Amino acid sequence: MTTLEQRIAPLVARANDALDRFLPPAAQPPMRLHEAMRYAALAPGKRIRPVLVYATGQALGVSLKVLDAAAAAVEFIHAYSLIHDDLPPMDDDDLRRGRPTCHRQFDEATAILAGDALQALAFEALLHDSAGSLSDGCRLAMVQVLAQASGSLGMAGGQALDLSAVGKKLTLAELENMHKHKTGALIRASVKLGLLASGNEDADLDQRLERYATCIGLAFQVQDDILDVEGATEVIGKPQGSDADRDKPTYPNLLGMDQAKATARQLCDDAIASLATLAERGDTLAMIANFIVKRDR
Ligand code: IPE
Ligand code: IPE
Ligand code: MG
Ligand code: MG
Ligand code: MG
Repeated sequence: MTTLEQRIAPLVARANDALDRFLPPAAQPPMRLHEAMRYAALAPGKRIRPVLVYATGQALGVSLKVLDAAAAAVEFIHAYSLIHDDLPPMDDDDLRRGRPTCHRQFDEATAILAGDALQALAFEALLHDSAGSLSDGCRLAMVQVLAQASGSLGMAGGQALDLSAVGKKLTLAELENMHKHKTGALIRASVKLGLLASGNEDADLDQRLERYATCIGLAFQVQDDILDVEGATEVIGKPQGSDADRDKPTYPNLLGMDQAKATARQLCDDAIASLATLAERGDTLAMIANFIVKRDR
């Protein structure tokens, strides 16, 4: 039996190679900006979003080479979102992926620009198709999916909801909506990019993958909230208790820890159930769903 580690380690390694290739060399001017972009994007994260692009594409018969640009693109958006999320006017955190946050290692202005440039680089990467097998229409559809997921109706909008919720008590529906945007949008986009690369237009498959991605996307942020309470700073690589310090509404503080954990498990089960028609081709995606709610970092 293959473990999740055996399945995803090659995908993580492949994602790291793709990120490195698309990033400007650190020695190319403006050097400080390029160093900051590389520092943030290549730091040891889980690479769950590129892994989802690869695993979805692989399940549908797409070769990994065709998926490299999309995998790198979504991770660049994610890396930019983390740099900005950690800045003083947002979460004001000093530790990320076990290292000083980008604005701590460099300076605030450089961190802002590194985020800006990573966002632009994501779209540049997406328009690049080294395998030469994706049609222009397909690449345009991918750009649209990533742009929508990143913008005011996606991740950035979710971050705005997060900031406006500081110190407030949200209803469960409001909290779910915030999580679905700030974290769910990029996770949904990752799965959709893998599907788009396959050229498969089966509406039922689209709906099932959408459901899978919606469930794991929400579960991912519920688990992130749980780890903010129960995780150890050395393991999660970011300051434990950051949400409580900044009075953020989270699943554990709205529902209680037991109910938050039950919600994450239920979402994972629902995600796996939506993969039924993929049979064993959905195995890696099912393993990823389990990982998302069992992870300790
Ligand atoms: C952290 O994301 C921020 C959220 C959207 C919850 P990850 O937990 O994927 O962070 P890395 O990429 O592994 O560092
Ligand atoms: C971050 O949510 C979501 C995005 C970066 C879009 P959090 O603020 O909970 O992420 P962490 O806990 O700092 O990684
Ligand atoms: Mg935040
Ligand atoms: Mg944060
Ligand atoms: Mg968090």
